[in-house]
Amino acid sequence: MLRLINPNHIKRANEKRLLLMAITLTILNVLSLMDHELQAQVSERDSLYNLTQQDYDDMKQKLGLKAAMRPGPSGDPSAANAANTDESKVRSYSLPDPLIAKDGKKVTSQGGWEEERRPQIVQDLETEMYGALPANLPAVTWHVVSEKDTVIANFPVTERLLVGKVDNASHPEIDVQIELLVGVPTAVTAEVPLVMEFGFIRWPFGNPSAEPASYFMSPYEPRWKQQLLAKGWGYAVLVPSSIQPDHGAGLRTGIIGLANKGKFRRPEQWGVLRAWAWGASQAMDYFESDPNVDASRIGIEGTSRYGKAALVTMAFDNRFSLGFIGSSGAGGASILRRNFGEQVENLTSSAEYHWFCGNFLKYGSDLAVDDLPVDAHSLLALCAPRPVFISVGSPFIEGQWVDARGMFLGGVQASPVYELLGKKGLGTSEFPEMGTALTDGEVAFRQHAGGHSTGPNWSTWIAWASRYWNTGL
Ligand code: GCU
Repeated sequence: MLRLINPNHIKRANEKRLLLMAITLTILNVLSLMDHELQAQVSERDSLYNLTQQDYDDMKQKLGLKAAMRPGPSGDPSAANAANTDESKVRSYSLPDPLIAKDGKKVTSQGGWEEERRPQIVQDLETEMYGALPANLPAVTWHVVSEKDTVIANFPVTERLLVGKVDNASHPEIDVQIELLVGVPTAVTAEVPLVMEFGFIRWPFGNPSAEPASYFMSPYEPRWKQQLLAKGWGYAVLVPSSIQPDHGAGLRTGIIGLANKGKFRRPEQWGVLRAWAWGASQAMDYFESDPNVDASRIGIEGTSRYGKAALVTMAFDNRFSLGFIGSSGAGGASILRRNFGEQVENLTSSAEYHWFCGNFLKYGSDLAVDDLPVDAHSLLALCAPRPVFISVGSPFIEGQWVDARGMFLGGVQASPVYELLGKKGLGTSEFPEMGTALTDGEVAFRQHAGGHSTGPNWSTWIAWASRYWNTGL
């Protein structure tokens, strides 16, 4: 039988073949682009790793450490070297008394604290842990980059995006531009209190749908900005990485590198946490000039490493009125001498040492945690008499790396300083049930039932803060 070939079938078959080829080529192109992208990411990661190692080795050499760095325990609970999470295995330790001065005498007056003991603690924390501010820090000039009126959950808000340009005339190779977002109720008639978070700004600015899905956000409560606006308060977000990169490789850039003209650090020079806190102080300078903001009522908040930064900010700049210190853990509010969760050896590893001054490395090598002249309670005590709220999540969701009880004990041990200054400390040394708000005093604590976030504690924090900011709303 004669089969008739329909020319249209041939045309369609050819078209299909061409389409298939085009799709295959596109897929191959995309794959090769992804491969290049992946390779670029891998090589960037390798170079950050190598530069970090170089910086870390340089610091170890400068310190002349004899012993090798001791490895820290693992944060993975199933690992053979998992960090301790068993309360019965916590060793006994003794803490430096924040009220006993270096001459062995107890400080019993406000004057004694302010003039004698506090400066000693400042000096120890600066020399051994966080580093001091360099003397030659350049000026910062703030500019509004853009402004928009928007609405968050029915609350009209005016958001300004600002950049704090750091004068780099002394070393033009390094450019530091601090990013700050400020939101105040649009109908503001008087200066408003405001909470500044160490965090992230959604990009592109002006696109409300681009809110980042971050684990710092909470599914448990209305978002923090909404809650603050409901009180008639404002919010701000300060971007830490715009002040100082978050790795050892970046220590010769950012504000640390600029102040140091691109050289490696000396052991006593400041670390990243102090640099981020310096950035917060620059934002405070800006607030002092903003007619919509009441600079005497500025809170500082952050979670995790940003919780550590929030605490360092509170401790060293007494212009901040209230602190909200989220899951700050080791290097933040939790007692370092407790062998529970993250340890000093983790902080002195090449992944985290950059948060501190170089001298701190000694405590993961030739010296031990007991040799530190300070601990987390010393840092908390520097906040006194200003109110500070210690926040943590549930061990079942957040894990135990941050050591909730260790942070609570940081507050307990700082309380005598508050009491000496006529304030109320935590008021108990009994670790509370989850969800209990210990908010009667100027040292407050609450363990919420959520994860690694301040999110579920915002409403408790705001109720506590209202006492101090007294806005009548
Ligand atoms: C690590 C680190 C913590 C830190 C946390 C974070 O877990 O060990 O000290 O707080 O990262 O900031 O995410």
